[in-house]
Amino acid sequence: MKKRVLLSAIAAASLLAASPFSFAADDTFKIGLILPMTGQQASTGKQIAAAAHLYMAQNGSTVAGKKIELIIKDDAATPDVTKRLAQELIVNDKVNVIGGFGVTPAALAAAPIATQSKTPMVVMAAATSIITQASPYIVRTSFTLPQAAVAMGDWAPKNGIKKVVTLVSDYGPGIDAEKFFKERLIFNGGQVVEALRVPLRSPDFAPFLQKVRDLKPDALFVFVPSGAGAAVMKQFLERGMDKAGIKLIGTGDVTDDDQLNDMGDGALGVVTSHHYSASHNSATNKKFVAAFEAANKGMRPNFMAVGGYDGMRVIYEALKATKGKGTGDDLLAAMKGQIFESPRGPMFIDAQTRDVVQNIYIRKVEKVGGKLYNTEFDTLKDVKDPGKAK
Ligand code: DHB
Repeated sequence: MKKRVLLSAIAAASLLAASPFSFAADDTFKIGLILPMTGQQASTGKQIAAAAHLYMAQNGSTVAGKKIELIIKDDAATPDVTKRLAQELIVNDKVNVIGGFGVTPAALAAAPIATQSKTPMVVMAAATSIITQASPYIVRTSFTLPQAAVAMGDWAPKNGIKKVVTLVSDYGPGIDAEKFFKERLIFNGGQVVEALRVPLRSPDFAPFLQKVRDLKPDALFVFVPSGAGAAVMKQFLERGMDKAGIKLIGTGDVTDDDQLNDMGDGALGVVTSHHYSASHNSATNKKFVAAFEAANKGMRPNFMAVGGYDGMRVIYEALKATKGKGTGDDLLAAMKGQIFESPRGPMFIDAQTRDVVQNIYIRKVEKVGGKLYNTEFDTLKDVKDPGKAK
């Protein structure tokens, strides 16, 4: 009898060990980040990786008795690769949490793997509204395009901008930005005279901008993903759109802090709406920016970095709250409802939607100390994702 119990215990143990979704060895806690470290979205990967390393350097690599191991994998923003890497990280490396996800298609590709394996998935970059609904194991620390775009749809018509052409990257976040900006603009008495969509891969903005010039709107509203803003700005200025009296507005992705200072004085005065500016005026942010710049020479943290930094915080705090003993479900429960002061300002993870609730700021590009920054001049407080109400 005793022998049989022992045998079945051994059988159970070996089954557990063979189970594809068993977790890391007891004394380590593994975080697997899947990021675009190469390719068109590489700046997103570099920013998030730098921020994750900074968070660990500042907060230690032992939490609740566990040694934190950070594994970073490059998916080059290619969804098939993201999916394979998510599987490998969970099955082979036995990570406790997956995170990162530089673009929407990558996040959507990994979502079913998180659900199947009950692994918390922290989306630190991708920003289409629908993402959090793709798996109950997703928590988001970035933002949503509707959050940012609605704010601009309110600001623009109140500031003399009534007739607008929209220009967005033709995929999830661009379509969200176009839709929510347009709805709000029309609600406020404005109009979208043309809605242009450019391909995500290797876009050529020139023919689109020529069309915009001919249409002579009060403003061009732009969404392009992080890393593509400088090209838009360059061609906008080269075509003399600003001199033709067309203003450039958009969500803050287009005046991305990673590239902004190299865009030149032509960017001065561009107004955007977003959740993070490197010049956000708080003690917490000043500390964050100084530490990030000291650890990464020549780099300024952008909104991707802050998504990564806060994502690491959400994971660390969940590990602390579960005293290092939590299952995926326990960790997820401890991520929901977290509230804290981020370098971006106050934020919390809505327990119902698992999405981020945060301030959205209206900012204008200004020169501060000889450098270009998005200076925040208005704040919409505690904005929930407007996409969730639909
Ligand atoms: C997404 C990517 C970005 O680089 C960005 O600035 C916003 C959204 C995305 O793919 O979801």
